[in-house]
Amino acid sequence: MTGFAVIGLGMGRSRARQIQHQTEGAELRIVVDLKEDLAREVAAELDCDWSTRLEDALTRDDVDVVMVMTPSGVHAEVGVRAARAGKHVLTTKPMDVTTAACDRLIQAADEAGVILGVDYQSRYVDNNVRVAEAMRQGWLGQPIIGEVRFKWFRSQDYYDHNDGWRGTWAMDGGGSLANQGSHLLDLLLWFMGDPRRLYAETAIMSHQIETEDVGAVLLSFPSGATGTIVGTTTFPTSVYFAAEVHGTEGAVLIDAALDGTMRVFGEELEDRLQQVDNPVHSAMEDMVRAVNQGVPVRVDGREGRRTVALLEHIYRSAREGVPVEVDINR
Ligand SMILES: NC(=O)c1ccc[n+]([C@@H]2O[C@H](COP(=O)([O-])OP(=O)(O)OC[C@H]3O[C@@H](n4cnc5c(N)ncnc54)[C@H](O)[C@@H]3O)[C@@H](O)[C@H]2O)c1
Repeated sequence: MTGFAVIGLGMGRSRARQIQHQTEGAELRIVVDLKEDLAREVAAELDCDWSTRLEDALTRDDVDVVMVMTPSGVHAEVGVRAARAGKHVLTTKPMDVTTAACDRLIQAADEAGVILGVDYQSRYVDNNVRVAEAMRQGWLGQPIIGEVRFKWFRSQDYYDHNDGWRGTWAMDGGGSLANQGSHLLDLLLWFMGDPRRLYAETAIMSHQIETEDVGAVLLSFPSGATGTIVGTTTFPTSVYFAAEVHGTEGAVLIDAALDGTMRVFGEELEDRLQQVDNPVHSAMEDMVRAVNQGVPVRVDGREGRRTVALLEHIYRSAREGVPVEVDINR
Protein backbone atom coordinates (compact mmCIF):
# COMPACT_ATOMS: atom_id res chain seq x y z
CA MET A 1 0.00 0.00 0.00
CA THR A 2 1.14 3.52 -0.79
CA GLY A 3 0.61 5.69 2.29
CA PHE A 4 -0.77 9.21 1.87
CA ALA A 5 -0.94 12.26 4.12
CA VAL A 6 -3.30 15.09 3.14
CA ILE A 7 -2.37 18.59 4.32
CA GLY A 8 -5.23 21.13 4.34
CA LEU A 9 -8.82 19.91 4.56
CA GLY A 10 -11.06 22.21 2.52
CA MET A 11 -11.01 20.60 -0.94
CA GLY A 12 -8.43 18.32 0.70
CA ARG A 13 -11.25 16.61 2.58
CA SER A 14 -12.76 15.42 -0.68
CA ARG A 15 -9.32 14.32 -1.96
CA ALA A 16 -8.78 12.47 1.33
CA ARG A 17 -12.07 10.61 0.75
CA GLN A 18 -10.99 9.77 -2.79
CA ILE A 19 -7.66 8.42 -1.54
CA GLN A 20 -9.28 6.31 1.14
CA HIS A 21 -12.27 4.98 -0.83
CA GLN A 22 -11.56 5.24 -4.55
CA THR A 23 -7.83 4.88 -5.13
CA GLU A 24 -6.61 1.34 -5.54
CA GLY A 25 -3.31 0.70 -3.78
CA ALA A 26 -3.57 3.84 -1.65
CA GLU A 27 -4.17 4.20 2.05
CA LEU A 28 -4.77 7.44 3.91
CA ARG A 29 -2.56 7.44 7.02
CA ILE A 30 -2.93 10.96 8.41
CA VAL A 31 -4.72 14.25 7.75
CA VAL A 32 -3.30 17.59 8.86
CA ASP A 33 -5.02 20.96 9.23
CA LEU A 34 -4.26 24.00 11.35
CA LYS A 35 -7.85 23.69 12.61
CA GLU A 36 -7.85 20.93 15.19
CA ASP A 37 -11.63 20.34 15.11
CA LEU A 38 -11.58 19.87 11.36
CA ALA A 39 -8.59 17.51 11.42
CA ARG A 40 -10.23 15.42 14.15
CA GLU A 41 -13.54 15.30 12.30
CA VAL A 42 -12.02 14.20 8.97
CA ALA A 43 -9.82 11.60 10.69
CA ALA A 44 -12.88 10.16 12.47
CA GLU A 45 -14.79 9.99 9.19
CA LEU A 46 -11.97 8.35 7.26
CA ASP A 47 -10.45 6.21 9.99
CA CYS A 48 -6.92 7.64 9.95
CA ASP A 49 -4.68 9.68 12.26
CA TRP A 50 -4.79 13.47 12.48
CA SER A 51 -2.58 16.37 13.53
CA THR A 52 -2.29 20.13 13.37
CA ARG A 53 1.48 19.85 12.69
CA LEU A 54 2.96 19.01 9.29
CA GLU A 55 5.95 17.49 11.06
CA ASP A 56 3.76 14.67 12.38
CA ALA A 57 3.10 13.54 8.81
CA LEU A 58 6.69 13.99 7.67
CA THR A 59 8.27 11.88 10.41
CA ARG A 60 6.12 8.80 9.73
CA ASP A 61 7.67 5.89 7.86
CA ASP A 62 4.27 4.75 6.59
CA VAL A 63 3.67 8.01 4.68
CA ASP A 64 5.05 7.82 1.13
CA VAL A 65 3.15 10.70 -0.49
CA VAL A 66 2.26 14.11 0.92
CA MET A 67 -0.71 15.69 -0.84
CA VAL A 68 -0.61 19.48 -0.42
CA MET A 69 -4.12 21.00 -0.27
CA THR A 70 -3.38 24.24 1.61
CA PRO A 71 -4.05 27.71 0.14
CA SER A 72 -2.04 28.06 -3.08
CA GLY A 73 0.61 30.47 -1.75
CA VAL A 74 2.01 27.87 0.67
CA HIS A 75 2.11 24.83 -1.64
CA ALA A 76 5.86 25.13 -2.33
CA GLU A 77 6.72 25.79 1.31
CA VAL A 78 4.88 22.65 2.46
CA GLY A 79 6.09 20.67 -0.57
CA VAL A 80 9.75 21.58 -0.03
CA ARG A 81 9.57 20.40 3.59
CA ALA A 82 7.92 17.16 2.49
CA ALA A 83 10.50 16.55 -0.26
CA ARG A 84 13.36 17.18 2.18
CA ALA A 85 11.80 14.59 4.48
CA GLY A 86 12.01 12.11 1.56
CA LYS A 87 8.29 12.14 0.71
CA HIS A 88 6.84 12.19 -2.79
CA VAL A 89 4.79 15.37 -3.27
CA LEU A 90 1.45 15.90 -4.99
CA THR A 91 0.20 19.50 -4.93
CA THR A 92 -3.26 20.59 -5.87
CA LYS A 93 -3.53 23.21 -8.61
CA PRO A 94 -2.04 25.71 -9.15
CA MET A 95 1.40 24.44 -8.15
CA ASP A 96 2.04 27.71 -6.28
CA VAL A 97 1.47 31.39 -7.02
CA THR A 98 4.82 32.31 -8.65
CA THR A 99 7.27 30.52 -10.93
CA ALA A 100 10.01 31.31 -8.38
CA ALA A 101 8.13 29.26 -5.77
CA CYS A 102 7.51 26.46 -8.31
CA ASP A 103 11.25 26.42 -9.10
CA ARG A 104 12.11 26.05 -5.40
CA LEU A 105 9.83 23.02 -5.17
CA ILE A 106 11.09 21.46 -8.41
CA GLN A 107 14.67 21.86 -7.19
CA ALA A 108 13.89 20.38 -3.76
CA ALA A 109 12.17 17.36 -5.35
CA ASP A 110 15.09 16.86 -7.78
CA GLU A 111 17.65 17.07 -4.97
CA ALA A 112 15.71 14.63 -2.79
CA GLY A 113 15.04 12.26 -5.69
CA VAL A 114 11.30 12.22 -4.99
CA ILE A 115 8.37 12.37 -7.42
CA LEU A 116 6.59 15.71 -7.80
CA GLY A 117 3.11 15.81 -9.31
CA VAL A 118 0.41 18.47 -9.73
CA ASP A 119 -3.26 17.52 -9.51
CA TYR A 120 -4.88 18.88 -12.65
CA GLN A 121 -7.93 16.63 -12.58
CA SER A 122 -9.05 17.51 -16.13
CA ARG A 123 -5.91 15.73 -17.43
CA TYR A 124 -7.54 12.46 -16.37
CA VAL A 125 -10.97 13.03 -17.96
CA ASP A 126 -11.41 10.65 -20.93
CA ASN A 127 -12.61 13.24 -23.45
CA ASN A 128 -9.85 15.70 -22.60
CA VAL A 129 -7.28 12.92 -23.03
CA ARG A 130 -8.84 12.15 -26.45
CA VAL A 131 -8.57 15.75 -27.59
CA ALA A 132 -4.97 16.06 -26.42
CA GLU A 133 -4.12 12.95 -28.43
CA ALA A 134 -6.04 14.28 -31.46
CA MET A 135 -4.03 17.50 -31.34
CA ARG A 136 -0.77 15.58 -30.91
CA GLN A 137 -1.58 13.37 -33.90
CA GLY A 138 -2.87 16.23 -36.06
CA TRP A 139 -6.33 14.63 -36.50
CA LEU A 140 -7.96 18.08 -36.55
CA GLY A 141 -5.66 19.24 -39.34
CA GLN A 142 -3.91 22.57 -38.95
CA PRO A 143 -5.09 24.14 -35.68
CA ILE A 144 -7.13 27.34 -36.11
CA ILE A 145 -8.64 28.34 -32.74
CA GLY A 146 -8.25 27.00 -29.19
CA GLU A 147 -10.76 28.57 -26.84
CA VAL A 148 -11.35 28.08 -23.12
CA ARG A 149 -14.06 29.86 -21.18
CA PHE A 150 -16.05 29.62 -18.01
CA LYS A 151 -18.85 31.57 -16.40
CA TRP A 152 -19.19 30.72 -12.75
CA PHE A 153 -20.65 32.18 -9.58
CA ARG A 154 -18.63 32.81 -6.46
CA SER A 155 -20.17 34.76 -3.57
CA GLN A 156 -18.41 37.44 -1.52
CA ASP A 157 -18.62 34.95 1.36
CA TYR A 158 -16.55 32.49 -0.63
CA TYR A 159 -13.78 35.10 -0.86
CA ASP A 160 -14.08 36.20 2.80
CA HIS A 161 -14.10 32.63 4.20
CA ASN A 162 -11.01 31.13 5.96
CA ASP A 163 -9.16 34.40 6.62
CA GLY A 164 -9.93 35.70 3.14
CA TRP A 165 -6.96 34.10 1.33
CA ARG A 166 -8.93 33.75 -1.92
CA GLY A 167 -8.73 36.65 -4.33
CA THR A 168 -5.37 37.81 -2.90
CA TRP A 169 -2.11 38.00 -4.85
CA ALA A 170 -0.03 36.46 -2.07
CA MET A 171 -2.16 33.36 -1.43
CA ASP A 172 -4.36 32.86 -4.54
CA GLY A 173 -1.86 34.21 -7.10
CA GLY A 174 -4.66 35.97 -8.96
CA GLY A 175 -8.43 35.72 -9.24
CA SER A 176 -10.83 33.86 -11.50
CA LEU A 177 -8.10 32.97 -14.03
CA ALA A 178 -5.57 31.72 -11.48
CA ASN A 179 -7.96 29.84 -9.22
CA GLN A 180 -11.00 28.48 -11.07
CA GLY A 181 -9.51 29.05 -14.52
CA SER A 182 -6.20 27.32 -13.97
CA HIS A 183 -7.71 23.95 -15.05
CA LEU A 184 -8.68 25.49 -18.39
CA LEU A 185 -5.38 27.32 -18.86
CA ASP A 186 -3.66 23.99 -18.31
CA LEU A 187 -5.94 22.34 -20.91
CA LEU A 188 -5.27 25.11 -23.43
CA LEU A 189 -1.50 24.65 -23.06
CA TRP A 190 -1.89 20.87 -23.27
CA PHE A 191 -4.01 21.01 -26.43
CA MET A 192 -2.34 23.91 -28.25
CA GLY A 193 1.26 24.01 -26.94
CA ASP A 194 3.10 27.16 -25.87
CA PRO A 195 1.79 30.51 -27.15
CA ARG A 196 4.29 33.07 -28.44
CA ARG A 197 2.35 36.24 -27.67
CA LEU A 198 -0.69 37.30 -25.65
CA TYR A 199 -2.74 40.30 -24.66
CA ALA A 200 -4.89 40.30 -21.51
CA GLU A 201 -7.40 42.49 -19.77
CA THR A 202 -8.74 41.91 -16.26
CA ALA A 203 -11.28 43.67 -14.06
CA ILE A 204 -12.87 43.56 -10.63
CA MET A 205 -16.59 43.93 -11.24
CA SER A 206 -18.68 42.56 -8.39
CA HIS A 207 -16.48 41.44 -5.48
CA GLN A 208 -14.34 43.12 -2.84
CA ILE A 209 -11.06 41.41 -3.76
CA GLU A 210 -7.49 42.38 -4.76
CA THR A 211 -7.40 40.27 -7.91
CA GLU A 212 -9.71 39.90 -10.93
CA ASP A 213 -13.21 38.44 -11.14
CA VAL A 214 -13.23 38.94 -14.93
CA GLY A 215 -10.36 38.01 -17.24
CA ALA A 216 -10.03 37.92 -21.03
CA VAL A 217 -6.94 36.89 -22.99
CA LEU A 218 -6.10 36.73 -26.70
CA LEU A 219 -3.17 34.45 -27.59
CA SER A 220 -1.13 33.74 -30.74
CA PHE A 221 0.52 30.34 -31.27
CA PRO A 222 3.61 29.74 -33.42
CA SER A 223 1.47 27.62 -35.80
CA GLY A 224 -0.57 30.72 -36.68
CA ALA A 225 -3.49 29.51 -34.54
CA THR A 226 -5.33 31.86 -32.21
CA GLY A 227 -6.31 31.23 -28.60
CA THR A 228 -8.87 32.88 -26.35
CA ILE A 229 -9.50 32.67 -22.63
CA VAL A 230 -12.55 34.19 -20.92
CA GLY A 231 -13.21 33.48 -17.27
CA THR A 232 -15.34 35.03 -14.59
CA THR A 233 -16.83 34.35 -11.18
CA THR A 234 -19.44 37.14 -11.59
CA PHE A 235 -22.15 35.14 -13.40
CA PRO A 236 -25.48 34.69 -11.52
CA THR A 237 -24.85 30.93 -11.32
CA SER A 238 -22.14 28.54 -12.49
CA VAL A 239 -22.92 27.57 -16.07
CA TYR A 240 -20.28 26.30 -18.46
CA PHE A 241 -16.62 25.35 -18.10
CA ALA A 242 -15.69 24.75 -21.70
CA ALA A 243 -12.73 24.04 -23.98
CA GLU A 244 -13.05 24.13 -27.74
CA VAL A 245 -10.53 23.41 -30.46
CA HIS A 246 -10.87 23.29 -34.19
CA GLY A 247 -8.62 22.97 -37.19
CA THR A 248 -8.85 22.58 -40.94
CA GLU A 249 -10.12 18.97 -40.62
CA GLY A 250 -12.41 18.93 -37.62
CA ALA A 251 -13.61 20.37 -34.35
CA VAL A 252 -14.27 19.33 -30.77
CA LEU A 253 -16.38 21.28 -28.31
CA ILE A 254 -15.94 20.10 -24.74
CA ASP A 255 -18.89 21.58 -22.89
CA ALA A 256 -17.81 20.48 -19.44
CA ALA A 257 -14.06 20.13 -19.08
CA LEU A 258 -14.23 18.72 -15.55
CA ASP A 259 -16.57 15.84 -16.41
CA GLY A 260 -16.13 15.69 -20.12
CA THR A 261 -19.34 15.95 -22.20
CA MET A 262 -18.37 16.85 -25.78
CA ARG A 263 -19.50 17.36 -29.38
CA VAL A 264 -17.37 16.23 -32.29
CA PHE A 265 -17.39 17.43 -35.91
CA GLY A 266 -15.25 15.78 -38.58
CA GLU A 267 -15.17 12.68 -40.72
CA GLU A 268 -14.13 9.59 -38.76
CA LEU A 269 -12.96 11.81 -35.91
CA GLU A 270 -15.46 10.37 -33.43
CA ASP A 271 -14.24 6.80 -34.13
CA ARG A 272 -10.61 7.79 -33.80
CA LEU A 273 -11.27 9.62 -30.55
CA GLN A 274 -13.13 6.66 -29.07
CA GLN A 275 -10.07 4.47 -29.59
CA VAL A 276 -7.81 6.60 -27.40
CA ASP A 277 -6.97 4.79 -24.19
CA ASN A 278 -6.95 6.49 -20.78
CA PRO A 279 -5.74 4.02 -18.17
CA VAL A 280 -5.49 6.41 -15.20
CA HIS A 281 -8.39 8.41 -13.77
CA SER A 282 -7.00 10.61 -11.04
CA ALA A 283 -3.77 12.25 -9.92
CA MET A 284 -3.77 10.04 -6.84
CA GLU A 285 -4.03 6.87 -8.93
CA ASP A 286 -1.29 8.28 -11.16
CA MET A 287 0.95 8.87 -8.14
CA VAL A 288 0.41 5.31 -6.85
CA ARG A 289 1.45 3.99 -10.27
CA ALA A 290 4.48 6.29 -10.40
CA VAL A 291 5.65 5.25 -6.92
CA ASN A 292 5.20 1.53 -7.55
CA GLN A 293 6.03 1.14 -11.22
CA GLY A 294 8.57 3.92 -11.75
CA VAL A 295 6.52 5.48 -14.58
CA PRO A 296 6.28 9.28 -14.87
CA VAL A 297 3.22 11.13 -13.55
CA ARG A 298 1.04 12.82 -16.15
CA VAL A 299 1.63 16.34 -14.77
CA ASP A 300 5.04 16.63 -13.13
CA GLY A 301 6.49 19.78 -11.56
CA ARG A 302 7.81 21.21 -14.82
CA GLU A 303 4.49 20.64 -16.55
CA GLY A 304 2.52 22.10 -13.61
CA ARG A 305 4.77 25.18 -13.62
CA ARG A 306 3.72 26.07 -17.19
CA THR A 307 0.29 27.31 -16.11
CA VAL A 308 1.82 29.50 -13.40
CA ALA A 309 4.23 30.92 -16.00
CA LEU A 310 1.31 31.61 -18.37
CA LEU A 311 -0.54 33.40 -15.55
CA GLU A 312 2.49 35.60 -14.87
CA HIS A 313 2.51 36.68 -18.54
CA ILE A 314 -1.27 37.28 -18.46
CA TYR A 315 -1.10 39.50 -15.39
CA ARG A 316 1.91 41.42 -16.75
CA SER A 317 0.02 42.18 -19.96
CA ALA A 318 -3.09 43.21 -18.02
CA ARG A 319 -1.05 45.45 -15.69
CA GLU A 320 0.92 47.13 -18.46
CA GLY A 321 -1.97 47.28 -20.96
CA VAL A 322 0.19 45.91 -23.79
CA PRO A 323 0.68 42.58 -25.62
CA VAL A 324 3.64 40.55 -24.29
CA GLU A 325 5.95 38.00 -25.89
CA VAL A 326 5.57 34.69 -24.09
CA ASP A 327 8.30 32.35 -22.93
CA ILE A 328 6.59 29.73 -20.78
CA ASN A 329 9.83 28.01 -19.87
CA ARG A 330 11.68 31.06 -18.60
N1 LIG B 1 -10.77 20.78 -8.14
C1 LIG B 1 -9.63 21.21 -7.69
O1 LIG B 1 -8.62 20.83 -8.20
C2 LIG B 1 -9.62 22.20 -6.55
C3 LIG B 1 -10.85 22.64 -6.01
C4 LIG B 1 -10.82 23.55 -4.94
C5 LIG B 1 -9.60 24.00 -4.44
N2 LIG B 1 -8.44 23.57 -5.00
C6 LIG B 1 -7.15 24.07 -4.47
O2 LIG B 1 -7.01 23.59 -3.14
C7 LIG B 1 -6.29 24.56 -2.36
C8 LIG B 1 -7.12 24.88 -1.12
O3 LIG B 1 -8.34 25.45 -1.52
P1 LIG B 1 -9.67 25.25 -0.64
O4 LIG B 1 -10.76 25.80 -1.44
O5 LIG B 1 -9.73 23.85 -0.15
O6 LIG B 1 -9.31 26.23 0.59
P2 LIG B 1 -9.94 26.21 2.06
O7 LIG B 1 -9.62 27.53 2.64
O8 LIG B 1 -11.35 25.75 1.99
O9 LIG B 1 -9.12 25.06 2.81
C9 LIG B 1 -7.74 25.17 3.09
C10 LIG B 1 -7.48 24.46 4.42
O10 LIG B 1 -6.07 24.44 4.62
C11 LIG B 1 -5.81 24.69 6.02
N3 LIG B 1 -4.44 25.22 6.10
C12 LIG B 1 -3.99 26.45 5.75
N4 LIG B 1 -2.64 26.52 5.91
C13 LIG B 1 -2.26 25.30 6.38
C14 LIG B 1 -1.00 24.76 6.75
N5 LIG B 1 0.13 25.48 6.65
N6 LIG B 1 -0.96 23.48 7.20
C15 LIG B 1 -2.10 22.75 7.29
N7 LIG B 1 -3.32 23.21 6.96
C16 LIG B 1 -3.39 24.48 6.50
C17 LIG B 1 -6.90 25.67 6.42
O11 LIG B 1 -7.11 25.64 7.82
C18 LIG B 1 -8.10 25.16 5.62
O12 LIG B 1 -8.87 24.23 6.37
C19 LIG B 1 -6.05 25.76 -3.27
O13 LIG B 1 -4.75 25.71 -3.78
C20 LIG B 1 -7.06 25.58 -4.38
O14 LIG B 1 -6.62 26.14 -5.62
C21 LIG B 1 -8.43 22.66 -6.01
